[in-house]
Amino acid sequence: MEKNIAVIRGDGIGPEIVNATLDVLDAVAERFGHKFNYEDVDMGGCSIDKYGVPLTEEAIAKCLASDSVLLGAIGGYKWDNLPGDIRPERGLLGLRSAMGLYSNVRPARLFPQLAFASPLKPEIVERGIDLVIVRELIGGVYFGEHKTEVIDGEKKATDVMSYTEHEIERLLHIAFKMAQKRRKKVTMIDKANVLDTSKLWRELGYKIAGQYPDIDYDYMLVDNTAMQLVKNPAQFDVVVTENMFGDILSDEASMITGSIGMIPSSSLGETGVGMYEPIHGSAPDIAGQNIANPIGTILSAAMMLKYSFDMDSESDAVEAAVNQVLDNGIRTVDIYTDGMTKVSCSEMGEKVAAAVLAAK
Ligand code: IPM
Ligand code: MG
Repeated sequence: MEKNIAVIRGDGIGPEIVNATLDVLDAVAERFGHKFNYEDVDMGGCSIDKYGVPLTEEAIAKCLASDSVLLGAIGGYKWDNLPGDIRPERGLLGLRSAMGLYSNVRPARLFPQLAFASPLKPEIVERGIDLVIVRELIGGVYFGEHKTEVIDGEKKATDVMSYTEHEIERLLHIAFKMAQKRRKKVTMIDKANVLDTSKLWRELGYKIAGQYPDIDYDYMLVDNTAMQLVKNPAQFDVVVTENMFGDILSDEASMITGSIGMIPSSSLGETGVGMYEPIHGSAPDIAGQNIANPIGTILSAAMMLKYSFDMDSESDAVEAAVNQVLDNGIRTVDIYTDGMTKVSCSEMGEKVAAAVLAAK
């Protein structure tokens, strides 16, 4: 098969982790006889530097015309003091919205090889961590009205959070369907003791749960969830929630698995054209040093193979290669411990690519 992939390297460590991932995709193409064409797209800080805006119409058009988008990371100190509407993050949010990518899936799974890297106590880690956060991605407070005004000489800032029924229901269906392929449990996260949006989520959670009698359904308040994630993460299978809660909880969920550098994500809408990116940021403090961990991006590419290209064996081959490399003691610095082999970002890409080919 031939696939056109829009590649957004972005800023900071973005280019390094994406280049390492393209090595792995090239290995997949070689082993399975596919052709992947990569088209470069600028978004984020690099787009601001070139065009004065974080996202151009041309970039959106290229992404929409592709079979899927692979994204590294965007942002950095250089653009931190720009006004809100031209910050790099605006580009990312604008692209998610323009592509209609409402469903963001972030699996947080503990690799047994990295169990020691989890900040949780061994007796908690031993019970296993294998959960998926299904996050609403183009609604809620991220996309409500934002304004800052001066009233009686005092600044007042406002961010509006709203959700419609269909925005919530379509995401809930994704979560329930995902649970059917996993351990058949959905936990919906809200703050229904305070927020109207959450009351609507809770009402619709019950409604949709009624259509999936095979799924064990429950809800949990977001503050309690923050606590339960460190106390007993094994209780979670599929966690579904609104945009901002999902942003916050997915960072927490990733950290308990050891390194945020390991966690991939997929963002999909009604079409198969998705965007795939690691959940971490552009890490400007280590950019250009070739020490970042590309595994989150490599596993994002594995999700792309599976969810956008229907290439299940290819996706499994990438995951198996990552496992193999970890089994062999290969580590980037963020997951390194004594006795292991420390490698750079690019070397990690080469090792995983070689493992994909070796399994041929
Ligand atoms: C994420 C990031 C983004 C978000 C930022 C960069 C706008 O934190 O993908 O989790 O908040 O969605
Ligand atoms: Mg985030």
